[in-house]
Amino acid sequence: MPHINRNNRPIGIFDSGLGGLTVLGPLVDNLPAESTVYLGDLARTPYGARTSGEIREFAVEGLRFLAQHDIKALIVACNSASSVAMADLLSEASFQVFDVISPGAKMAALHSKSRSIGVIGTTATINSGAYELELKTLDINLRIFQADCPQLAPMIEKGIPGASAYVSVIRDCLARLPMQEIDTLILGCTHYPLVRNIFRAVCGEEVRLIDSGLATAEAIEEALRESGGLVEDPQKTDLNNRVPEGSREYYVTSTKVMNHMEVFRDMAQEFLGVESLSIKEAEIAGLASSSAPKPTSTTKT
Ligand code: DGL
Repeated sequence: MPHINRNNRPIGIFDSGLGGLTVLGPLVDNLPAESTVYLGDLARTPYGARTSGEIREFAVEGLRFLAQHDIKALIVACNSASSVAMADLLSEASFQVFDVISPGAKMAALHSKSRSIGVIGTTATINSGAYELELKTLDINLRIFQADCPQLAPMIEKGIPGASAYVSVIRDCLARLPMQEIDTLILGCTHYPLVRNIFRAVCGEEVRLIDSGLATAEAIEEALRESGGLVEDPQKTDLNNRVPEGSREYYVTSTKVMNHMEVFRDMAQEFLGVESLSIKEAEIAGLASSSAPKPTSTTKT
């Protein structure tokens, strides 16, 4: 249904799965009056092991689905899609489209004192060189060290319990980086902040962890404020002196893949601090013909 006040339209958020919750959480904290529609492509997660052609195709399908909800802006809350599909998304969209790479890169470049920055992410993100390009554009003298961590997002998505499996995967990944030089580590996958405590335990207190979700939520607030696109009168309170909350909608492309849907629901409830969540199945035409991704691994310096 078209909205009468165009600023009151929702913000669309897209990820391969539950990683986008790490953008949604801070966005809702900062801008509670904004309405949101979330799409997690659970039927085709993980994206990190997919070809850039597949990721571009899926991201455009995600955009088209969310566009049907009359969104005023789209957050590509997936580093893998942000790193390869932005040109396709921008040419398709009639609204603002935000990626998660540039805000995280900006925050890292701003804070690094040693000027040596580590980036970890999915194979698709690391192979794309998107962070390196963004960081070098900000400061050509930055030294950038990158490693992919292909197992991590799928483990989080499946809800593998206990810290020890995560510790060993994170240690193996960081062992491929010169951690004695790096003072800033970009968690270049929106799933990773969901295990931020484990990263903190493995890295120690000296390394600054950059959460691309948090950085993106802040960048969006600033961009919508500047363009006059924020929901009308966001501070207006109701009779109980509360700012009325925007509406929240959640869609996933499959409710049937293993226990992904239950993990999504539990993680969303825990991460967003809500008691119950209604999740609907999104109808996307291309789904039936998509096959499973093939895993690979990369280190780049
Ligand atoms: N959360 C996504 C990212 O930021 C995707 C993880 C995956 O599906 O492999 O890259």
